[in-house]
Amino acid sequence: MLALGAAREALHRKEHWVSLLTSGMVRYITEQFQFVDLRGQIASLRQIYRDFLEHLAEEPEEAVERHHGRLLEWTRTQLAVVGALELVRGTGFRPVCSNYSPELQLQVLGIRSEEIKEPVLDLGCGDGSLVRYLCDRGLTATGIDRNAPDGLLSGEWFDAPLGSGQWGTIIAHQSVSLHFRSAHHASASRASDYARLYLRILHALRPGGRFLYAPSLPFFEHVLPSEFLVSHSSAFPGAESTMVTRI
Ligand SMILES: C[S@@+](CC[C@H](N)C(=O)[O-])C[C@H]1O[C@@H](n2cnc3c(N)ncnc32)[C@H](O)[C@@H]1O
Repeated sequence: MLALGAAREALHRKEHWVSLLTSGMVRYITEQFQFVDLRGQIASLRQIYRDFLEHLAEEPEEAVERHHGRLLEWTRTQLAVVGALELVRGTGFRPVCSNYSPELQLQVLGIRSEEIKEPVLDLGCGDGSLVRYLCDRGLTATGIDRNAPDGLLSGEWFDAPLGSGQWGTIIAHQSVSLHFRSAHHASASRASDYARLYLRILHALRPGGRFLYAPSLPFFEHVLPSEFLVSHSSAFPGAESTMVTRI
C-alpha cells in the first residue's frame, strides 16, 4: 500500500515537471516565432519530456543526447510548417512578438478611448497594456493571449469562449488579422481556421458593436454578410486598419 502511494506520488511529481518543461518550451517558441501553430503538437512535446525524465537517472548522458535530438527534430518540424526554418537557417533572423503602446494601438486602429463601446475584448492582448489602459479609464475590458499576463485569459484564440452578441468592441491589433494574412499565404487549411475564427468574432459582437483590427484583410472583407459594415482608416502610410460594425 505504502509502495503504491509512493509510486503515485513519484508519477505525480514527474507529470508536474513534464507540464512545467512543456509550457516553458511552448512559451519560448511562441514568443520567438509568432506564426507557429502548436495546436495538436503539445502531446508529442509532453511525451519527449516524459521520456527524458524517465531515463535521466539510469543513463544520463544517453538520455540528454537522445532528448536533444528529439527536441531539435520536434522544433524543426514546427518551424518548417510555417516557413520559419528556412528564414532562421538562411538569415539568422529571429522574429519576436512585439507589444505596442496603448496609445499607438488606438492611433493605428483610428479610435479614441472615449469612443470605445463596452465591454471590450482584446484578442492577442500581449502583455495586456491596452486592457489596463482602458480599465484605468473606467471601461470594462479583458484580454486573451496564449502568453497572457496574470489576471487575463491565457489560451489559444481559437479556443476562446467568445460567446454570441455580447461584446461592444473586439480589438485585434497586430494579432488575429496578422496571423490570418500569414495563413492566407501559407496554407488553405490554416486560412480556413482563421476565416471561421473571424466569423465567430463578428457574431460575438452586440448589434452596434465593432471589430477593430490591424492589419486589414482586403482578400476577405468583401465577402462579409450584409449585416456587417466595413470601413478603413490609415493613421500613417503602411498602418492601415479596419473597423467592422455589426448593424
Ligand atoms: C505582435 S503581438 C501584438 C500584441 C498586442 N496586441 C499589441 O499590439 O501590442 C501578437 C500577440 O498575439 C499572440 N498570439 C499569437 N498567436 C496566438 C494564438 N493562436 N492564440 C492566442 N494568442 C496568440 C502572441 O502571444 C502575441 O502576444
